[in-house]
Amino acid sequence: MEIKSVILAAGKGTRMKSETPKVLHKIFEKPLLGYVLDNIKTITNENFVIVGHHADEVKEYVEKNYQNAKTVLQTPQLGTGHAVSMVLPYLKDFKGQVLILCGDTPLITAETLNKFVEFHNSNNSDLTVMSTIFENPTNYGRIIREQDGSLKCIVEEKDAPPEQKAVKEVNAGIYILDWAKISPAFTQLTSNNAQGEYYLTDIIEWGKKNNLKVNAFILENSDEIYGINSRKNLAEATRIMNTRKLNTLMDNGVTIVDPNSTWISEDTEIGTDTIIYPSTYIEGKNKIGKNCKIGPCAHFRGGVEVEDNCKIGNFVEVKKAKIGYNTNAGHLSYIGDSELGAYVNIGAGTITANFDPITGTKSKTILKDNVKIGSNTVLVAPVEIGEGTNIGAGSVITKNVGEWALALTRAPLRIIEGWVKRK
Ligand code: UD1
Ligand code: CA
Repeated sequence: MEIKSVILAAGKGTRMKSETPKVLHKIFEKPLLGYVLDNIKTITNENFVIVGHHADEVKEYVEKNYQNAKTVLQTPQLGTGHAVSMVLPYLKDFKGQVLILCGDTPLITAETLNKFVEFHNSNNSDLTVMSTIFENPTNYGRIIREQDGSLKCIVEEKDAPPEQKAVKEVNAGIYILDWAKISPAFTQLTSNNAQGEYYLTDIIEWGKKNNLKVNAFILENSDEIYGINSRKNLAEATRIMNTRKLNTLMDNGVTIVDPNSTWISEDTEIGTDTIIYPSTYIEGKNKIGKNCKIGPCAHFRGGVEVEDNCKIGNFVEVKKAKIGYNTNAGHLSYIGDSELGAYVNIGAGTITANFDPITGTKSKTILKDNVKIGSNTVLVAPVEIGEGTNIGAGSVITKNVGEWALALTRAPLRIIEGWVKRK
C-alpha cells in the first residue's frame, strides 16, 4: 500500500539554546532531519515536513536535498495534533497509509520502521503507535493499557496522575495509520489538557471510540527513539550512532584499533581488512576500499572515495577527493577537490590549495597515475599533473605539468662558509 509520511519539525527546540533550528543541528555533518528523511527513503513515496520555527531555513534544506519531500508551514504551533492537521488539504482523497515521525529522532532505523509497518499490516490495524520501555520515563507520554493488556490511551507527563507517571511504557512518537479512517480525528481534537495543545496522542482514544483497530508496537532497542532536546542529547546521540557504526564495521571485517577515539559517520562504507587507527574522525558520505590504512588522526570530511590498498596517514585531511589504487598520503597533508590516480605518492606536508578567496570558488587538482609529489608542495588549483611526473620537494605548482617530467620551483641554496664563526 502507498505510504506517505508526515515529519514534525515545527517546534522551537528551546533547550538547544541556539540560533539554528533544532532539526538542522548536525551529527557527522548531516542534519538530524536528514537522518529521518534518509531512513524512510525506501518506505514512503512522498514526505511532508511540518515547519514553523525558522521555517525558511528548514524549507531550504529540505528542498535542496530531498526531491520527494515538501514543507508545510504551521503557524502558530498549537501542538503535535495540530501539526499533522496541516496536511489535510494535501491528502484529501488519499487512500493509503501515513507514517508520522519526529524530525528530532535521528537514531530510528529503516529496519525498525519496516518491521513497524509490517506489524501494522499483519495485525490489520487502523492505527499503530510505537512504544518502548524506559527505566526513566520522565517527559514522555505514558502508554496506558486496559486490564486485558490492549491499548487504552496515551497520557502526557504533565497530565498524568502519580499512578500513571509510574508507567514505564512510553510513546515513541512514531505512528502509522490508515489515512482515510483516522484523518477525521484531526478535525475533532480538543485542547483540554495541561498544555492547552492539540495532542496527536489523543487519536488513540478517538480511534477506540470510533471502533477502529488500534495497536502498539513495542520497540526493544529503546536507543532508536532517543530524541534530541539539548546539546547533551546531541552528544549522546552521536555516541550511540558511532558505537552502532563501529560495531557494524568490525562485524564486517574492518579493524578499529581504538573504538573509544574513532568516529565514523553512518554514511561511510569501508572494505574488509582496512585498519582504522586511533583518533580518526570521518564525517559525511565516504567510501573506503579494502586493505587500506587510515590514521592515526586522519580527518575525512565527506565526498571521499578511496580505492583498495591505500594509506591515508596521520594528520591528513581529505575532502571531496578520489584516491586511486595503492596511493599513499602518509603525513600532514590536505587533499581537497582532487582526483588522484593509482600508485600516487603524496609527500609529507603537501597541500592542494583549492580555494580562491577573491572569487570564493574552489578548483580541482588532478594527479594522474604514478605521480610523486615531494614533501611540502603546494598544488595551486586548478592544476593537472600528467602521468609519472615527479614534483620536487618544496615546490609551488601553479601550472599544469605533462607526463613523466620533473617539475620544481625552488630558491637556490646558498651556503656561506664560516658565517657563524665570523658573527
Ligand atoms: C511528544 C508526545 C509524547 C511522546 C514524545 C516522544 C504529544 C502530545 N506528545 O511529546 O507522548 O512521548 O513526543 O518524543 O504528541 N511539533 C510541531 N508542532 C507543534 C508541536 C510540536 O511540529 O505544534 C513537533 C516538534 O518540533 C517535535 C515533535 O513535534 O519534533 C514533538 O514535539 P515535542 O514538543 O517535542 O513533544 P514532546 O513533549 O516530546
Ligand atoms: Ca512538548
